[in-house]
Amino acid sequence: MEQKMPNHVAIIMDGNGRWAQKRGLKRTKGHQKGAEVLKKISEYVYDKKIKVLSVFAFSTENWKRDKEEVDYLMDLFLKAFKDNFDAVKKKGVKVVFSGLKDKLSDKVVKAMEKMSEETKNNNNGVFNICLNYGGQDEIVNASKKISEDVLNGNLSIDDINKDSFGKYLFNDLPPIDLLIRTSGEYRISNFMLWQMAYAELYFTDVLWPDFDEKQMDKAIEVFNNRDRRFGGVKKK
Ligand code: FPP
Repeated sequence: MEQKMPNHVAIIMDGNGRWAQKRGLKRTKGHQKGAEVLKKISEYVYDKKIKVLSVFAFSTENWKRDKEEVDYLMDLFLKAFKDNFDAVKKKGVKVVFSGLKDKLSDKVVKAMEKMSEETKNNNNGVFNICLNYGGQDEIVNASKKISEDVLNGNLSIDDINKDSFGKYLFNDLPPIDLLIRTSGEYRISNFMLWQMAYAELYFTDVLWPDFDEKQMDKAIEVFNNRDRRFGGVKKK
């Protein structure tokens, strides 16, 4: 039977640290392998004609980690934005970022802006990288912007609804159809709360650095076998 593709897939790429520790390596080695896996999986996703991919690269809580690990991750992002996603860009995918720019270094912000600028007219897909991101922050941030528009007379309270609210989020993205979280943790961890309202959740014990195309196919197959009713009742 032909597979139906989710339109928007979101991934919590968890388990990099444990993958490295299991091998007696520094945690940062796990992130390095994780970045390679993301490169491969992002290309695979767009080849499968999935339109939107969102990934959790760095949460607002991740600043609590050792400085060495945070610095390593920031350098890894810089390097990845420069080299890793050329294939995705060539496929005509638009790269967007979700999260607050505060706390990020000028260098990282500039690299993010460069990538967004270079791909802003692409329309074969969207790659949403969540960096310094928290789902509750995103909703609070949107509420503040809405309040400003109401106070300035640019928006009427009657015009606030699910569709208009979405336009005030970091990016106006379609709903998430499939959320994948690796490494055997069964949590949402403040990731894309608004967009995830009706997402199918797929949890796997595989650690992110071990995730591959086969694992992705398995997640899509499970998604295909789910009965999505969106609160309704399935007609016989
Ligand atoms: C969670 O694993 C992973 C992260 C906090 C970082 C995710 C980053 C990457 C996969 C690097 C590539 C990203 C981009 C956008 C280039 P963990 O460290 O919490 O693992 P643990 O739970 O085993 O400690």
